[in-house]
Amino acid sequence: MVVLQMILLLCAGSSVANDSCSTNVNIYAELEKLKNMEERIQNLEEMNEALKIIVQDSQNQLKSLQMENQAKKVAFSAGLLESGRGNTGPFHTGKTLVYKKVFSNIGGAYDSNTGIFTAPMKGAYYFRFYGHCHGGPTMAISLLKNGETQCSLHSFKPASNGNASNGVVLTLETGDKISTRLWQNTWVYDDPASYTSFGGFLLFPM
Ligand SMILES: *[C@@H]1O[C@H](CO)[C@@H](O)[C@H](O)[C@H]1NC(C)=O
Ligand SMILES: *[C@@H]1O[C@H](CO)[C@@H](O)[C@H](O)[C@H]1NC(C)=O
Repeated sequence: MVVLQMILLLCAGSSVANDSCSTNVNIYAELEKLKNMEERIQNLEEMNEALKIIVQDSQNQLKSLQMENQAKKVAFSAGLLESGRGNTGPFHTGKTLVYKKVFSNIGGAYDSNTGIFTAPMKGAYYFRFYGHCHGGPTMAISLLKNGETQCSLHSFKPASNGNASNGVVLTLETGDKISTRLWQNTWVYDDPASYTSFGGFLLFPM
């Protein structure tokens, strides 16, 4: 609109000195051109709005993908004793082993206060546990999923000392709980060399 007014003023001002405005310039054709231009600008503005939305959507998608990728990083490893040395057990009942020396806990799914790993998402997970004991009582530990035995290790009344380990791939739902349990009347040993440990990681989400 401002452009149009300027042209009209220009024509009015120059009509005396130069009659090109009043005679040679087809004002209707010029107006038509302006109208076309305005339409094109409007189209461009609409396209620009659409592009803005696409860019915003892409940014949101990227952000959620980054967050998803971050959430997929789940891995932990812990030794039984944080410091010192000694036997754990034997006890009259089974006991959840609480591994205190946390080597890594990416994603924070392992709780070193309870010894329990809680699956943050559905997926295939790998767990392994290792036990060492001195000669004497039997050492026996099971890996439990929501309280149910999945696999175990066992060293029957070793003469001098014993070692045993096991590992398993489990398909877990979000919130499934994995822990290890020392059997009743058995024991396990640990010291700063961390002979007895528990660890696991997400292989892939499902
Ligand atoms: C009038 O306009 C024409 C075309 O733009 C130009 O060639 C001519 O020099 C102008 N005459 C005057 C007097 O300004
Ligand atoms: C158990 O493992 C420890 C540490 O690796 C080793 O010194 C010991 O000899 C092993 N015990 C047996 C009975 O193999």
